[in-house]
Amino acid sequence: MKATHKLLFVLCPMLVLVFIFYSSGKLHLHGWGQKPLFDQQGFLLKLDGKLSDDLVSKYGNLSRGACKPGYAAAKMSVIYPKFVKPAPMFLDRNFRRLTKVTNFLPPFGFKTQERIIDNILTATKNYGLGPELDRLSCKRCIIVGNGGILANKSLGSRIDEYDVVVRLNEAPVSGYTRDVGTKTTLRITYPEGAIQKSERYEKDSLFVFSAFKPLDFKWLRQMIFKEKLQGTEGFWKSVARYVPREPSEMRILNPFFIQEAAFQFIGLPMNNGLMGKGNIPTLGTVAITMALHNCDEVAVAGFGYDMNTPHAPLHYYETVKMSAIKESWTHNISKEKEFLQKLVKANVITDLTKGI
Ligand SMILES: *[C@@H]1O[C@H](CO)[C@@H](O)[C@H](O)[C@H]1NC(C)=O
Ligand SMILES: *[C@@H]1O[C@H](CO)[C@@H](O)[C@H](O)[C@H]1NC(C)=O
Ligand SMILES: *[C@@H]1O[C@H](CO)[C@@H](O)[C@H](O)[C@H]1NC(C)=O
Repeated sequence: MKATHKLLFVLCPMLVLVFIFYSSGKLHLHGWGQKPLFDQQGFLLKLDGKLSDDLVSKYGNLSRGACKPGYAAAKMSVIYPKFVKPAPMFLDRNFRRLTKVTNFLPPFGFKTQERIIDNILTATKNYGLGPELDRLSCKRCIIVGNGGILANKSLGSRIDEYDVVVRLNEAPVSGYTRDVGTKTTLRITYPEGAIQKSERYEKDSLFVFSAFKPLDFKWLRQMIFKEKLQGTEGFWKSVARYVPREPSEMRILNPFFIQEAAFQFIGLPMNNGLMGKGNIPTLGTVAITMALHNCDEVAVAGFGYDMNTPHAPLHYYETVKMSAIKESWTHNISKEKEFLQKLVKANVITDLTKGI
């Protein structure tokens, strides 16, 4: 009797182990037998621009040209099921509750900068796009890149039709309006990219600050409080000393968009959450990421470099040629392009200049 007991004690766990081993093996074999549906980043491998049936029934009856509420996010979720839409555009007084960015240093979060941000946000007092745009139930946004591909295409009036026109860094408007439009809702900038001549700023746009290093927050505080600029050693080129904007017209871009673009969307090296070789997305891709979370429809223009035309201009406002582009230490242009091409191919975003 005792011996059979012992035998049972040994046999039962063994049977359980064998069963577990067998079933997990089967699961594995099953997994191997199927072709993976998603790539490493979690994007659907088979991308086509077609609307799924539920999106057709949702948007099919809208009158032609009407803004489609939630369209970009819905299409994004089809090709990238991990997508979670809510992510505020700008930091507000509750920024410490943004758990995904609290534990990262700039540029992927705001750790170590909390007090200076409190200071800044107390002065700006405004954390949205402004009453008129915040009230819109459906927003169409366009991100205007600085690419030479925008030149001589007369897209200005089409760009002006968007509710939110986003421009980057020093991209000029005056003198180029036929091609780039007249309207600027947001100008997203880091210190080295900011317009340096006050008279070059357009009349009314929000100055949206995007930080790439801790020092950048100090610069922003000096700009907001109109202080004399001090401590410029850490910048990689000269920076603006004065920004002709009231504190109420300044915003801090949520650093989550840099983090998500780098690590989730493009798949750049994590480097323990620190800035490292080739793991910083370009500002244009950061802006597109922001728009996917905050706009109902998203378009872009002036994006993409065509390396087959080295003599074409790099920027629409300069004569610097494409061939001048250098291998970048911070960005990974080719990996970034793969991500943007997924968005275009699946019609998540519309590329007006077709350069992506
Ligand atoms: C659009 O029309 C289809 C059938 O014509 C209908 O099933 C669907 O509910 C409608 N969608 C909306 C959003 O009205
Ligand atoms: C745009 O047109 C102007 C005037 O015709 C010309 O000088 C310039 O080279 C053109 N730029 C590009 C990028 O084609
Ligand atoms: C970009 O990514 C590719 C693929 O991961 C890698 O081989 C290449 O070295 C990266 N370039 C830079 C500049 O980091």
